[in-house]
Amino acid sequence: MKNEINIPNIQFDIITLFPQIFDSVFSQSIILKAQEKGLVKINLINLRDFGEDRHKTVDAKPYGGGSGMVLRVDILLKSLKSVKKISKKSKTILLSPQGKTFNQKTAKKLKSSEQIILICGHYEGVDERIKNFIDDEISIGDYVLTGGEIPAMVLIDTVSRLIGGVVGKKNSIKEETFERSLLKYPQYAKPLEFEGLIVPKVLLSGNHQEIEKWRVTQSLKKTKILRPDLLKA
Ligand SMILES: C[S@@+](CC[C@H](N)C(=O)[O-])C[C@H]1O[C@@H](n2cnc3c(N)ncnc32)[C@H](O)[C@@H]1O
Repeated sequence: MKNEINIPNIQFDIITLFPQIFDSVFSQSIILKAQEKGLVKINLINLRDFGEDRHKTVDAKPYGGGSGMVLRVDILLKSLKSVKKISKKSKTILLSPQGKTFNQKTAKKLKSSEQIILICGHYEGVDERIKNFIDDEISIGDYVLTGGEIPAMVLIDTVSRLIGGVVGKKNSIKEETFERSLLKYPQYAKPLEFEGLIVPKVLLSGNHQEIEKWRVTQSLKKTKILRPDLLKA
C-alpha cells in the first residue's frame, strides 16, 4: 500500500517475549501519528505464542553449561516464518550487542524496506543458529542491555522519522545533525534574554543570507570541537 504522498509504508514486525514494553513508546507523539496516518505499521509478535509445550517454553539452558537461558532457534524461526513476506524489500534484523553499530546511514538504507522484522533477544541471548536466517545483526552501541526491546525502539524511531510525512517539514530533517557530516547549528527561541544570556544578534536581523552563513559557520565550529571524526569522514 502506498500513502497519499506516494512514499512506501514500512511495516515493522517485532518478535519479542515482552510486547507490553512497547506500549507507551509507540502510543505517543510522532510515532503514534505516523501509525495513524498509515505511514508506519508496527506489529508485535509474542514469542511466547510459539512455545510448544504446556508451559509455552521458548528458551533452554545452553549446551556446554553456563549461566542463563538462551532463546531456542526452532521457536524463533517459527515466529519469523509466521510474519516474513516473500519480498526483496523484507529485512530480518537480529538486535545484538555483537552486531554492526547502528547509525543514521544504516537508518537511511533501511528506510526503503517494505518490511523490517526485528528479533529481540533476552536473557543470555539467542541460539547462534538463528543467524542463518537473518539479513543483518545490529547493535545500538558497545554496551549490553537486558533485551533487544529498547534497541528495537531506537531503530524504529530513527527509521520512521525519515519517512516522508512523519516529521513536519522536510527541511527539518535535511538540516539535522549527521546530514552533510555536520552537527546542527545552535538554535534559540523565546525569551530573548535569559539570566543574562542573549540570542545572537544575527538571528534577529531578518537577513536570511547572513543567518544562513552564520548557521553554516556555527555548524562547522561545533562539529570541529565536538565531533571532529565526522569532518574527517
Ligand atoms: C543480555 S543480552 C545477551 C548478551 C550476550 N550474552 C552476549 O554476551 O553477547 C540479551 C539480548 O539483549 C539484546 N541486546 C543487548 N545489548 C544490545 C545492544 N547493545 N544492541 C542491540 N541489542 C542488544 C540482544 O537482543 C541480546 O540477545
